[in-house]
Amino acid sequence: MANPKKRQLKLGALLHGVGGSTSMWRHPEAQPDASVNFDLYRRWVQTAEAGKLDLIFIADGLYINEKSIPHFLNRFEPISILSALAAVSTHIGLVGTLSTSYSEPFTVARQFGSLDVISGGRAGWNVVTSPLEGSALNYGKKEHPEHDKRYRIATEYLEVTRGLWDSWEDDAFVRNKETGVFFDPEKVHTLDHEASSSL
Ligand SMILES: Cc1cc2nc3c(=O)[nH]c(=O)nc-3n(C[C@H](O)[C@H](O)[C@H](O)COP(=O)(O)O)c2cc1C
Repeated sequence: MANPKKRQLKLGALLHGVGGSTSMWRHPEAQPDASVNFDLYRRWVQTAEAGKLDLIFIADGLYINEKSIPHFLNRFEPISILSALAAVSTHIGLVGTLSTSYSEPFTVARQFGSLDVISGGRAGWNVVTSPLEGSALNYGKKEHPEHDKRYRIATEYLEVTRGLWDSWEDDAFVRNKETGVFFDPEKVHTLDHEASSSL
């Protein structure tokens, strides 16, 4: 059993542009374009890293309207900003939100897989199912799945993404120029997932 005295709290910082309220952008010290200011995000991640935090976190949502808080109206897409931040940091965790209700596991497995390689193993995923009904229209869907269905989809979705990540063993790529062997077929495991018919 782990020694409870050795347990450590992980600390993270939410990088949230102009903030989580309607009026924070008006504060005398706030930068009003913070939500789309890469230089600021770069400084924030570097400050968090220098301050020995474990991770930074980029929240996200898929629907806005005129009543949304200013940060939601125009903000970075999580995978894009995390990939850029990976290049200007060295060891802090890079965590972002991505919805299982409005994306495909094959694409998302590749996106987080790439972020993980780009960052040297620092990618983290905040899996959400998107509560906002208006998201459906942004994705050309007729209806927003109800709560329990969204979570059933998410459960299967995570099985698929994990299976895809495990389909190549870590040392599968031999890349031996002499022998011409690029990968070891024994270390490839085809997922062959059969989609649940009840969803
Ligand atoms: C720490 C934390 C971060 C969250 N970040 C997001 C987010 O970025 N985007 C989002 O749509 N929901 C986010 N949520 C909301 C959850 O996805 C979820 O909808 C919420 O916890 C309510 O649970 P329910 O979906 O079972 O109603 C977050 C929740 C927590 C506790």
